[in-house]
Amino acid sequence: MSDRLRGELRLPGDKSMSHRALLYAALADGETLVTGAGDGHDVRSTASLIAALGASVSREQTTSIDAPGTARWRVRSGGRRSLRPATAPLDCGNSGTSMRLGAGLVAGIPGTHTLTGDASLQRRPMARVLEPLGAMGARAVGSGDEGARAPLTITTDGSLRSVTWTPSTPSAQVKGCVLLAALAANGESSYREAVATRDHSERMLSARGALIRTTRGLDGTTVTIAPGPLSALPHVTIPGDPSSAAFWLVAGSLHPNADLLVRDVSLNPTRRHSIDLLRRMGARIDEFPHPDTGSGEPVGDLRVRSAALHGIEMSATDVAMAIDEVPILSLAAAMASGASSIRGAGELRAKESDRIAGIAAGLAALGLSITVVGDDLHFAGSGRPASGATAALADHRLAMTFAIAGLVAGVEVTVDDPGAAAVSYPTFYEDLARIGAAA
Ligand code: S3P
Repeated sequence: MSDRLRGELRLPGDKSMSHRALLYAALADGETLVTGAGDGHDVRSTASLIAALGASVSREQTTSIDAPGTARWRVRSGGRRSLRPATAPLDCGNSGTSMRLGAGLVAGIPGTHTLTGDASLQRRPMARVLEPLGAMGARAVGSGDEGARAPLTITTDGSLRSVTWTPSTPSAQVKGCVLLAALAANGESSYREAVATRDHSERMLSARGALIRTTRGLDGTTVTIAPGPLSALPHVTIPGDPSSAAFWLVAGSLHPNADLLVRDVSLNPTRRHSIDLLRRMGARIDEFPHPDTGSGEPVGDLRVRSAALHGIEMSATDVAMAIDEVPILSLAAAMASGASSIRGAGELRAKESDRIAGIAAGLAALGLSITVVGDDLHFAGSGRPASGATAALADHRLAMTFAIAGLVAGVEVTVDDPGAAAVSYPTFYEDLARIGAAA
């Protein structure tokens, strides 16, 4: 057992922002240096995708100021008109964001495009992007029984119709897809969402001169965007990923002797909900916001210390606002004193794995109490993980959740596919060993 968890962490850059920084760089006429980008497999898939469409993409040596697990990318493009259909299918690997946002990008590039991915990605629902792209005039078809799985084929003459789209499920990926396609439409398009999902697309498109505005009403949020080119932006810096920070916020809270400082994390209001949920559970998390550097995102350091967590109720809105953190929040709920519930988590079945099944099986394998009723997860609480063998289902967030269970309880947890963590957090095990080894 690590008697104490101590140290400072600098995390890979936010995955959602890293994808968008690359995609928008490909649509601008000019050169962009992206620093601090997450260097997981998913972001590399997006870098390959824009390169296959004709952007010039080079990976540059990181320097001593770059956080571990980050990459520097230099992208040169002549804007949309310089991009062409790739000669081979665009392989998005494990990355839903590469595929769904990539579909929006290619819908504005004349020709026929094929997007594919690994076995996990080929199981994930894609009707949610095929439908709006079809409504905008692209011929967007999938494969499989319902014609709604990858590989996707998108044929377009590059001129799309404007659209007003209301998705059936809150999804920043679908929003990101529609907003990208809308840049090539013949008028203003709108995207309406009942729950405000992460707003990196809006912030980053606006920084590139897109005419985009958000209006908030009683029935939700509407984002409206005008078509047009994106302007050049020589340098984009990506802050640390709050979804990766959540692993340390939970580890620091649950471990009996912890004091961790997580540096340079995005504190974007649409991404910080797991901090607020953990605080509702009694977590001791201090925030040290950085002065505004004009990066378009609030950024700060987070200090977390051991705390006596107690159970809480989490609603479907909480799930939508902390969608990627549910696996690690489930570990917190299983170990907090008293019962917790996470309700309306059905969307987790459509992630890199069926995360509801994966969380339930993994926590149960460690002797923790969890009951699944429909799309709701119930925790008796007050559990302590025992040694055990878990299955990550090739899912990065499950692999890291189970590893954290071992760290905080000082037991031996084996994860069948620990390497899955590299999808979003390639330096995760180094960080885990370092903070656990602090004398
Ligand atoms: C993402 C949006 C979320 C999230 C994913 C990244 C994005 O997916 O789970 O990891 O970058 O837009 P959904 O919007 O489909 O829920």
